Amino acid sequence: MEIKKIAVLGAGLMGNGIAHVCAQAGYEVKMRDIDQKFIDKGLSTIKKNLERGIAKGKITQDEVDTILTRIHGVLDLEDAVKDADLVIEAVPEIVSLKLDIWKEVDTFAPEHAILASNTSSISITQMAAVTKRPEKFIGMHFFNPVPIMNLVEIIKGQATNDSTVQIIEDVSKKIGKETVLVNEAPGFAVNRLLVPALLEAVFAIQEGVATVEDMDKAIHLGLNWPMGPLTLLDFVGLDTTLHIADYFFEEFKDSKYRAPTLLRKMVRAGWFGRKSGMGFYDYSGEKPKPNRF
Ligand SMILES: NC(=O)c1ccc[n+]([C@@H]2O[C@H](COP(=O)([O-])OP(=O)(O)OC[C@H]3O[C@@H](n4cnc5c(N)ncnc54)[C@H](O)[C@@H]3O)[C@@H](O)[C@H]2O)c1
Repeated sequence: MEIKKIAVLGAGLMGNGIAHVCAQAGYEVKMRDIDQKFIDKGLSTIKKNLERGIAKGKITQDEVDTILTRIHGVLDLEDAVKDADLVIEAVPEIVSLKLDIWKEVDTFAPEHAILASNTSSISITQMAAVTKRPEKFIGMHFFNPVPIMNLVEIIKGQATNDSTVQIIEDVSKKIGKETVLVNEAPGFAVNRLLVPALLEAVFAIQEGVATVEDMDKAIHLGLNWPMGPLTLLDFVGLDTTLHIADYFFEEFKDSKYRAPTLLRKMVRAGWFGRKSGMGFYDYSGEKPKPNRF
């Protein structure tokens, strides 16, 4: 089966990045969100990111214009998925929300369509089970920022068949990504390691081990990470990280995955990181300013 049309659910951090790379690879894309303002923000981020490539001589204005004509912002779910060959979901990391969406998508999407979730941690098998096509359900886990990060983790649920895996490997390759195949387990491969490390960094801040900027500097220079864990947390989204931590804790029943109080408190205050303008750093000025805890 050849994939031509892709529906991306969610125009946020990940959704707009996924729509961008799919359209750039030549796919027709419908990007769906629940409010026009989120669609507009997603489309303007895609435009801005593509235009950065013009300045670097990587892409021409004509190419950017063509790519943008392939992306259609849509509010109605049925309209988004009714003619899709592949549906990629990137809505918030909340189990009940994802299950509700997949039930609906399954009724509207064509029978042949493959269903892929960009979840960071939630069970592919659990989501597949609310559809009538669990063999066509798969995890397609991109990394942020999607146009720059080269990996897609492909996650096989209990019922995912080999042809679905093959199709998603081919699509990932066409959009210029490397892939790894992972059997389902909470957090898959990357987040299984990364999330506990990020939570530990928050515990260290909570306990006054170091300031935000020194903790970031320590890990950036000491472990050669491209950025420190608190900067990374602000990029990932503190709300998303908290959802993942709570999910891990529930699934593994192991206290090592408990979320630090500080993280929960920040999320309750609406401090989600870069996307809300406030997190471990304050983004209201010209340069991010570390917060004190
Ligand atoms: N942030 C990361 O670094 C990262 C990396 C890999 C995977 N993920 C996963 O990607 C998914 C999305 O995360 P994000 O960081 O893009 O979140 P986000 O909050 O930036 O974006 C989510 C978007 O989904 C929209 N939405 C909510 N309900 C919807 C619905 N019913 N239909 C369509 N859109 C809806 C929201 O309005 C929002 O625009 C999550 O499952 C997350 O775990 C995130």
